[in-house]
Amino acid sequence: AMCLREDQLQIISVLFEAEMKKGLSSKSRAVAAVKMLPTHVCASPNRSESGQYLGLELEETRVRAVLLNIRNGQPLHHTNLHHKIYEVPLQRLHTGAEEYFDHVAQCISDFLDFVGKKNTCLPAALTVSFPCEQTATDKGTVLNWSRCVKATDCERQDVVTMLREAIDRHGTFDLDIVAVVNDTVGTMISCAYDDPQCEVGLIVGTGVNICYMEELKNIKNAFRKEQRMCINTECGRLGENGSLNDIITPYDIQVDLDSLHPGKQRFEKLTGGLYLGEVVRQVLLDLTRRGLLFKGHENIALQTPGLFHISCLSQIESGRVGLLQVRSILQQLGIESSCDDSVCCAVTCRAAQLCGAALAAVVDKMRENRTRDSLNITVAAHGELYKIHPQILKETVKRLAPQCAVTFMTSEEETGKGAALIAATARQKSEQ
Ligand code: GLC
Repeated sequence: AMCLREDQLQIISVLFEAEMKKGLSSKSRAVAAVKMLPTHVCASPNRSESGQYLGLELEETRVRAVLLNIRNGQPLHHTNLHHKIYEVPLQRLHTGAEEYFDHVAQCISDFLDFVGKKNTCLPAALTVSFPCEQTATDKGTVLNWSRCVKATDCERQDVVTMLREAIDRHGTFDLDIVAVVNDTVGTMISCAYDDPQCEVGLIVGTGVNICYMEELKNIKNAFRKEQRMCINTECGRLGENGSLNDIITPYDIQVDLDSLHPGKQRFEKLTGGLYLGEVVRQVLLDLTRRGLLFKGHENIALQTPGLFHISCLSQIESGRVGLLQVRSILQQLGIESSCDDSVCCAVTCRAAQLCGAALAAVVDKMRENRTRDSLNITVAAHGELYKIHPQILKETVKRLAPQCAVTFMTSEEETGKGAALIAATARQKSEQ
């Protein structure tokens, strides 16, 4: 059975909390499963910001540019934002980092033309959907591209430097790049402008990750006057040391083996949209081979990797696509799942439960950090899985972290706004 029991989820939550502590401590950092990367973001916007800022979301397959216009203390509306999305052609991803950043520079150039800002040197910040080791807000060396991209030539290089060099090569505009942050941090900050209690960012999209505000005293080598700093947990790595083996099914093992980076990102492979469709496909292949589906004929389509994209999973679940009649089949197999009988739901339901368990560990750690009996906290969340099963996620957190009152804010397409706000905040501080 795919759906997990309460006691299993509890174990995962405790395990993740222990790994977080390991990742923070200088002694055990090297062996910790999760990276716990300091982001050097210590402050949220306080509404004293004003001006025009550029936010850039660098994803492996698309770039999104956002221009944010803020006036001192005023609430943000859509009218304060202009944005544009650019796809990154696949060949750009396979040629290497220089080509990738040249493409990004071209996108920025087009966007600046679009908003008529080619001749101003705008303060800008980037969000990236891969892990970076940071020594300052505007320095981030790529640890690895964790998902689709195999370009290894930019690993250990500084993202901001690579982009600055590409902008110089492009030669038609200038930017004042003040920060680079993980996409989860952009998500968190995008909501923190409206809700100062928002101190956690959760992404459950193609990839899965959480960031949160940690006490500075718990962070190695962080000497600053602020009380807290945002930590990028890179929780997708949980399980790389085998700690999730008890819940990993043969289907998950196959998905891992077929992936670009076998053995890596084990938690993400149970929860991320990039992999969930593949898990479903493995289950269906197995059912077919046992003669329980499609009269035992292996459907060619089923042998196609990537057949079920996460957005299609949500459609199947809501019954809009009558692709599967698996209910009775699953019952025959004795597979009972507490949420629904379809394979898709079993897979995505387990994913939502697991993300809930990880989130519970984070909020409860924050509560303990502050030595409080209860904690009110807001989580900025976005991603397909959050849209499909918000309830499962929320209920899991509630059950596993009963002392925390968690409010969720959705932050769909807001990461770039978060980046622009980070640029504004960083600017504000340097002017003070
Ligand atoms: C992957 C990346 C992580 C990112 C997440 C969500 O897990 O390693 O840095 O935050 O995807 O996009």
